[in-house]
Parts: sequence; structure tokens; C-alpha cells
Amino acid sequence: MPQHVQGVIAPGRNEPVRVETIVIPDPGPGEAVVKIQACGVCHTDLHYKQGAINDEFPFLLGHEAAGIVESVGEGVTDVTPGDFVILNWRAVCGTCRACERGRPWYCFDTHNAKQRMTLLDGTELSPALGIGAFAEKTLVASGQCTKVDPAVAPEVAGLLGCGVMAGIGAAINTGNVGRGDTVAVIGCGGVGDAAIVGSRLAGAAKIIAVDIDDRKLETARTMGATHTVNSRSTDAVEAIRELTGGFGADVVIEAVGRPETYAQAFYARDLAGTVVLVGVPTPEMKLELPLLDVFGRGGALKSSWYGDCLPSRDFPMLVDLHQQGRIDLAAFVTETIGLDDVEKAFARMHEGDVLRSVVVL
Ligand code: APR
Ligand code: ZN
Ligand code: ZN
Repeated sequence: MPQHVQGVIAPGRNEPVRVETIVIPDPGPGEAVVKIQACGVCHTDLHYKQGAINDEFPFLLGHEAAGIVESVGEGVTDVTPGDFVILNWRAVCGTCRACERGRPWYCFDTHNAKQRMTLLDGTELSPALGIGAFAEKTLVASGQCTKVDPAVAPEVAGLLGCGVMAGIGAAINTGNVGRGDTVAVIGCGGVGDAAIVGSRLAGAAKIIAVDIDDRKLETARTMGATHTVNSRSTDAVEAIRELTGGFGADVVIEAVGRPETYAQAFYARDLAGTVVLVGVPTPEMKLELPLLDVFGRGGALKSSWYGDCLPSRDFPMLVDLHQQGRIDLAAFVTETIGLDDVEKAFARMHEGDVLRSVVVL
């Protein structure tokens, strides 16, 4: 029997979000219905509402979530009802050219639920990143459910479903930060701070946090930054070079997503160093760099998709490290809110007041 639950939809471009009754079909083959316990508010949800991702309104927002599997469809063997899971938005296929080469974190054919959730009048909803978890329940592909230790708080676990995983993964998976490395992180919001946490976990010797907002730099210190640079008042490239013996950092993580900050990352890195772009640019942005510098400085210029994570490998591991007190993911939860408060959370996000607002159900 299809179920009726409450969920937050974005009805049209820049229209305020609102809570509506959502119809959740029974799970079909390869699908699961998950009872959502917590879902973080991410920039991408706001971008959906603004029409910046695509035009497929109405959206069912929310994609950074944890909950309990309620029911599964035919042929589902990876999860069973009662499992505590984090939802991921890259369920790997296992058969594409990336998966077959043993690099499933690059999977080129990730999948979502086949059936659609709808409004009461039958209007089909587009779930944000194939998830749609600002809702009491949601329908996903079973491969989007990753089992983790149920002892962790749901509002903490859910964060690994997007922003925190992107940042930690940018450092440990894409950047390959290792013991003794010097790291600079440009942009210290939730994603940049997670990159700081990842760099510290990986044994970085020096972690330089760069932001234009002193409040963000203070938080970055509590996350593990050893040095901070306010790039509104100080030249970031010079400051990073000064702090690294005049050379630049081994790994620079760009967590803003703008050409100016990318250029800073490019020049703030040591010869043969690595730049990791995890901030997401907009379509009109262009980058201009002397090609000779691209060649002459060597090293690697990488992008990090979802922290190049493999959910089945990384989510349980990071939950365990959190439970052991070796990383503090709870520090990312600025406030817990209700389904009715998503619009307010967008405003706070815009003001730079929060690392994460998390809807708790
Ligand atoms: N130089 C340095 N820092 C900057 C600059 C700049 N020119 N412009 C903005 N920042 C800082 C902001 O002060 C803020 O602390 O970047 C940070 C961005 O943080 P959030 O807005 O909280 O964004 P976050 O969730 O961390 O995501 C960062 O990654 O996933 C993407 O879409 C996301 O592009 C966004 C980026
Ligand atoms: Zn694949
Ligand atoms: Zn997100």
C-alpha cells in the first residue's frame, strides 16, 4: 500500500519551500523505503530551489540523511528492514568501465529508485540527488543505503551522506594527504572544515586554514587547523608560502568553487604539489592560467566528486572513527530543526551563520 508522509518540496524557481503530503510507493525490485531520522541542509538543496541544477520542479529536497530501512523490494539482499543506514547519492553499478577497472568511486552509471514519489494529485516529484530526505520516509535504490553502526547519533551520521564526506574525502581520497604533509584549505565552511578534519586524521604536519571571515577561521582552529589566514586582509598565496618555508603546501584544497580561489590554490602549492577542487563552480565561471605555469609547476590538479568516496568503504569507517573519538563529526551540527524550518535554515546558511542545520524527525 502506498503511504502518505510529510515532506519538504520546492514547488517552483525561487518559490519558498513548503511541507506537503507525499505519496511513497511500496518498494519495487531493487528499491527500499527508509524512515528518515535526520537530514542535513546542504547548499545543493538551495541550488535546486533556485532552479540552478535543473528545471524539473517540483523537487523533494534533502539528501544528507540517515534513517532506518522500513521495507525492501524484490531481490534486495544488501539491506533488510531495521538496518540503520546513511543514504548515498552515488549507488555504484558494478559493471561500468570504472567499476570493472576496480575504481567504483568513479562509477559512471550510478542509479536511483525507478519508481517516482508523487504529490496527492499524482504530480511526480524529483528527489534531490535521487534521495529526497526532508521527509518522514523516502524511496531509494537499495544501493543508496549504506549500513553503519546504529550507536551513532542520526544527525551526525547523516552528514556523511554529503558535505562532510566530500570534505574528508577531498583530503584523504583525492588529495592523498599523508603523514607529515603540509596542507592548505581555502574556504572553511562545512566542506573546508571537513577537509581539515580529514587532513588531521591523515597525519598532516601543518594545516593552514584560509577564509575571508574570522568567525570561520576560529571554528577551523577547533577542527584542527594549525594556522589561519584571513585572505581579505592578507595575500593568501604569500602567507601560505611563508608558513611553509617559502615553498607552498604539498596539498591545497579549494572548498569555495571560484576562479580566484582556484588560482590561489594553484600558486599556493609547492612544486609537484596537488590541488584538489571540491568547491562547486557555476556554469559561467572561467579559469585563465599561463599554460607554462601549469606545465612548469608539475604535480596534480584534481577534482573531488563526493570526496571520491566509496560509501560502503568510507561511511562505516568514518562512523567508527567518530564513535572512538578520533574525529568529531558532532562539531558540524550547529543546530537541529524541524521540517518546517528549512526555509529559515537556507537564510542562515546564506548569512554564513551555520556549518550545518540538521532536520531531525
Ligand atoms: N576566499 C576564501 N574563502 C571564501 C571566499 C574567498 N574568496 N569566498 C567565500 N569563502 C568562504 C566563506 O566565508 C565560507 O566560510 O568559503 C566558505 C564556504 O562555506 P559554505 O558557504 O558553508 O559552503 P560549504 O558547505 O562549505 O561548501 C563549499 O563546496 O560542495 C561545495 O557547493 C559547495 O561550492 C560549495 C563549497
Ligand atoms: Zn559503475
Ligand atoms: Zn549536498
